[in-house]
Amino acid sequence: MSTHETCVKVSLAERSYDIRIGTGLLSEVGPSLRGLGFSGRVGVVTNPVVRRLYGPAVMRSLRSAGYDALAIVVPAGERAKCLRGVWTILDELATARFERGSVLVALGGGVIGDLAGFAAAIFARGLPFVQVPTTLVAQVDSSVGGKTGVNHPLGKNLIGAFHQPRLVLVDPRTLTTLPAREWVAGLAEVIKYGMIADDAFFAYLEQHMRALLRLEEGPVIRAITRSCQIKASVVEEDERESDRRRILNYGHTVGHALEALGGYRRLAHGEAVAIGMVQEADLSRHLGHCSGEVVARQRALVSEAGLPVCLSRVTFSDLWAAMQHDKKVTQGRVYCVLPERIGAVTIAPLERSAVKQWFDQRHRKHATEGSGGVT
Ligand SMILES: NC(=O)c1ccc[n+]([C@@H]2O[C@H](COP(=O)([O-])OP(=O)(O)OC[C@H]3O[C@@H](n4cnc5c(N)ncnc54)[C@H](O)[C@@H]3O)[C@@H](O)[C@H]2O)c1
Ligand SMILES: [Zn+2]
Repeated sequence: MSTHETCVKVSLAERSYDIRIGTGLLSEVGPSLRGLGFSGRVGVVTNPVVRRLYGPAVMRSLRSAGYDALAIVVPAGERAKCLRGVWTILDELATARFERGSVLVALGGGVIGDLAGFAAAIFARGLPFVQVPTTLVAQVDSSVGGKTGVNHPLGKNLIGAFHQPRLVLVDPRTLTTLPAREWVAGLAEVIKYGMIADDAFFAYLEQHMRALLRLEEGPVIRAITRSCQIKASVVEEDERESDRRRILNYGHTVGHALEALGGYRRLAHGEAVAIGMVQEADLSRHLGHCSGEVVARQRALVSEAGLPVCLSRVTFSDLWAAMQHDKKVTQGRVYCVLPERIGAVTIAPLERSAVKQWFDQRHRKHATEGSGGVT
C-alpha cells in the first residue's frame, strides 16, 4: 500500500466489495484479480484514448499475474454507450469463448463503466466485473453503486441493470491526463457530497480547492475517498433507489432540465449540476428551508472550482416543462432535493406557483442589475 492509499468498503451482503484508492494501483490490477480468486480469462473493455494512455500498464500487470488478457475496444464518447457498443463487447466475448469463470475489467470513464458493466450483467447470465475508473466522475460516482446500462434514442440510461462490481481500483494519477474541463466537471459531484451529507468535508473542500485544482495527491485522494464513502453509505441504505438514494440527485432536477434544454451538448453534465445546485439552494432559501449563508458559501465554492453558477437564457416555462421530464417526477409532482444546512438536505415536492415566484424575483433582481439573466 502506498502512503496515501485508502480503502472504502461497500457493504451489500454477498455483493460487498472494496474501493481501493491510491497512486500506482493501475499496476496492481493483475495481483488484485488473483487476490479475489479469479482464474479464468480477462477482458479489458476500454476506448482508444484510454487504451493508448493506460492500456499497456494494465495489460502488463494482468499478464505478469499469469492472465490471458484480451483488450476490447469501443469508440470514445457518449455515443458508444448504446446497444451497438454492448453488441461489440458480447460479440468479442463469445468469439473468444469467454465463459462463467471469466472476468471483465472496465478501464475508462463513466461511459466505459456503464457499458462494460451492462455487458458483464448479461453475458452468460452475469460475469463478474472490476471497475478501473479513469475520470473523476467515474471515480467518485459512476463506478460506485452498481448502476449499469446504455442510452436509447428516446432516453439516457433507459436500458440497464443493477450489477455490482467485485472491486473498484482508483489510481488518481490517471487524472493528470484528463482534459481540465472534465476534471472540473467532476468536482461538481464532489461538492454535492459535501452539501448532502458532510459539513466538515465541505469545509475541507473550501480550504483545499486550490490544492485540488493543482491535483495535489493528498487532497485529491481525500476528496475521492470521502466522496466514495458518502455514495457507498447512501447506496448501502438503499441499493435500488426508492427513497434515500434520491439525495444523490441534488442539483440534478434543474441540472438535467438544463442539459435537456441545451440538447446534451452545450453544458457538460457536471457544469449543469453545478448550476443546478446553486439554483436549487437559492430556491430552498426562497422556500424557507435554508439561510442565505448556505447559498452564498456553496456558490463561492462552486465558482472557485471554476464551475458555472448562472441560469442564463432560460425562460420559466421552458425550465418548468423540462423539469417535468425528470425521473424524480412522481404522480405529476416534481420532487426536488433542497438543502437545509451545509451537509443536510430534505426532499420536497415543488409547487409551480412557488417556483415561478422565485424565478420571477431572481430574474427581476438581476435584470435591474443589468445582467439580463438569472444568476
Ligand atoms: N452508473 C452511474 O451511477 C453513473 C453515475 C454518473 C454518471 N454516469 C454516466 O457516466 C458517463 C459520464 O462519464 P465521464 O464523465 O467519465 O465521461 P466519459 O466516460 O465519456 O469520459 C470523458 C472523456 O474522457 C476521456 N478519458 C477518460 N479517462 C481519461 C484520462 N484519464 N485521461 C484522458 N482522457 C480520458 C474519455 O475517452 C472520454 O472522451 C455518462 O454516460 C453518465 O450517464 C453513470
Ligand atoms: Zn451527476
